[in-house]
Amino acid sequence: MKKINSFAEYKDWYQKSVEHPQDFWADIAETFTWKKKWDSVLDWDFKGPNVKWFDGAELNITENCIDRHLAEKGDQTAIIWEANDPDTEHKKVTYKELSVQVNKTANALKSLGVKKGDRVCIYMPMSLELSYTVLACARIGAIHSVVFAGFSAKSLADRINDATCELLVTADGFTRGSKYIDLKAIADEALKSCTCTKNVLVLKHSGKSVNWQEGRDVWYGDIVDKQSDVCPAETMRAEDELFILYTSGSTGKPKGVVHTTAGYMVYAEYSFRNVFQYNQGDMYWCTADIGWITGHSYIIYGPLLAGTTTIMFEGTPTFPDAGRFWQIVEKYKVNIFYTAPTAIRALQAKGLEWVEKYDLSSLRVLGSVGEPINEEAWQWYHTNIGKGKCALVDTWWQTETGGIMISPLAGLTKEKPTFATYPLPGIQPMLVDADGNEIKGNGVEGNLCVKFPWPSMIRTTWGDHERCKQVYFSTYENKYFTGDGCKRDEDGMYRITGRVDDVINVSGHRIGTAEVEDAINSNDAVVESAVVGYPHDIKGQGIYAYIIADRKIDNLEAFAAEIRSSVTSEIGALAKPDKIQVVQGLPKTRSGKIMRRILRKVAEGVTDQLGDTSTLLDPTVVDNIVQTKDLVN
Ligand code: PRX
Repeated sequence: MKKINSFAEYKDWYQKSVEHPQDFWADIAETFTWKKKWDSVLDWDFKGPNVKWFDGAELNITENCIDRHLAEKGDQTAIIWEANDPDTEHKKVTYKELSVQVNKTANALKSLGVKKGDRVCIYMPMSLELSYTVLACARIGAIHSVVFAGFSAKSLADRINDATCELLVTADGFTRGSKYIDLKAIADEALKSCTCTKNVLVLKHSGKSVNWQEGRDVWYGDIVDKQSDVCPAETMRAEDELFILYTSGSTGKPKGVVHTTAGYMVYAEYSFRNVFQYNQGDMYWCTADIGWITGHSYIIYGPLLAGTTTIMFEGTPTFPDAGRFWQIVEKYKVNIFYTAPTAIRALQAKGLEWVEKYDLSSLRVLGSVGEPINEEAWQWYHTNIGKGKCALVDTWWQTETGGIMISPLAGLTKEKPTFATYPLPGIQPMLVDADGNEIKGNGVEGNLCVKFPWPSMIRTTWGDHERCKQVYFSTYENKYFTGDGCKRDEDGMYRITGRVDDVINVSGHRIGTAEVEDAINSNDAVVESAVVGYPHDIKGQGIYAYIIADRKIDNLEAFAAEIRSSVTSEIGALAKPDKIQVVQGLPKTRSGKIMRRILRKVAEGVTDQLGDTSTLLDPTVVDNIVQTKDLVN
């Protein structure tokens, strides 16, 4: 695949992508292995929405991620796995070995009765077998639904049931940082409420003993090892589903974002090569978890499509100490490093001594993703990790967009701290006002929409197309609405300012306020709750919960611990409220709507500018909230 080599070329590509989008994408798509070429590049309407890319084409994404590299790159390392514990030996697989393992795993899935179109839930630690399983699903046309291994039994069960997954692939357990997670026990608990799941494939990862359900549970090694290493790649149509990934919105339960085969593939490699300016032979490391979209697109699919060596890390930035990331960069001579602002801020807080111990001279490109990167973190990353010499790409995108949408192209685009800068060729962002009118020109601010389809865009929400339409395509007619606020500066550069809906972004993880409220309300003593985000030094946003209890709470600490435990078991530890305040009432309008604006201000500590409270049903509740603010746990 050709890549953009200068900013002038970027401009040419961009212009072509807008004027002749079909030719533009057809050129890029040419470079892949197709079983059959497309009849038409793009058919679309955003009313349905109904978007089809490369319709009529047939392919298998794993032939593009693996088989087409075998002749020239068979012996090149495809994936390096680095364990949580620095004393555990790392593992490497070449493209040839990856092919063998993926085919064997694919045959194992088949032997368990998994067929094209079936859904497979993957709830695993960061392990090589997790990537084999993802790719094995794609090999046989099963739809993978990876669930982040930090989610609770209840969240896992909800996701398994929503997609009616036939098979669950999990592991005995794993250690992340210093904490052991008994994954199989959580999976067993979840499966008590899932009737659709016939088998559980269990990877022996930690070696700890687990409960076993004969007839249902199967050891991964026992079944995979004895399979043939040849598994023909299933013929997939361009718009056949590739995967489901659940994500939170402002209302209701998480929705299963559906990505399809051809468009996702084309955009994953295109964006990977251009944003990071990948050169053949580069060592690439993205620190995300495969449980999130970043891991799907930029640990597995994008890098493997481009024939990269991609590193997969099981651990955390601060275990066993705050030098771990930099030790890994030195160990593998990483050239391209992609992480999240929350990790940068956490490491910044630990001091430079952890950075200075290691040789980071291999680095050429640094990336940031998942949340707005504040100026201070940007500068620290640029100066101390990049030594002022590396390109720094602040990449804006979403689970729904499938790939990076707005970002500098490393080393080509002039950077501006905190700005994601310009859209990739093929991406047509627009800013709109509250009524959906386009705000043209520069030096403006509005809600971020996209006006034209791109190949890796969300196609539907699993099992509920209407929901996809409502959430993304109905707020503003004939546009995809991102849920983000955005500024466009005098130079036409974009800066994402954060969510404009009730989604909180905690350490780069999307959490819906409604979900957390539901979890809190599951506690017997809770009458009602309201959750808002507030600025947090490390996590970007923290979770602040206002709770009305049905009894007098004497021991706030014990009550808060109970609430946190309810949230951990309903959703997972990632959604635990940072601050809990017991209140007598919530600020509501006469129509019963909670005025979150006021709650956000109080959570931020701004209690003297609460704005107009005259429309409240009972303005005295605000006084009570402000007066009891020091009683927060
Ligand atoms: O608010 C934006 C924020 O993360 C949201 C998407 O979250 P998720 O689907 O979990 O995907 C995260 C990884 C792609 C967006 O709506 N976001 C993501 N990247 C950035 C960002 N906000 C500002 N700057 C970014 N670079």
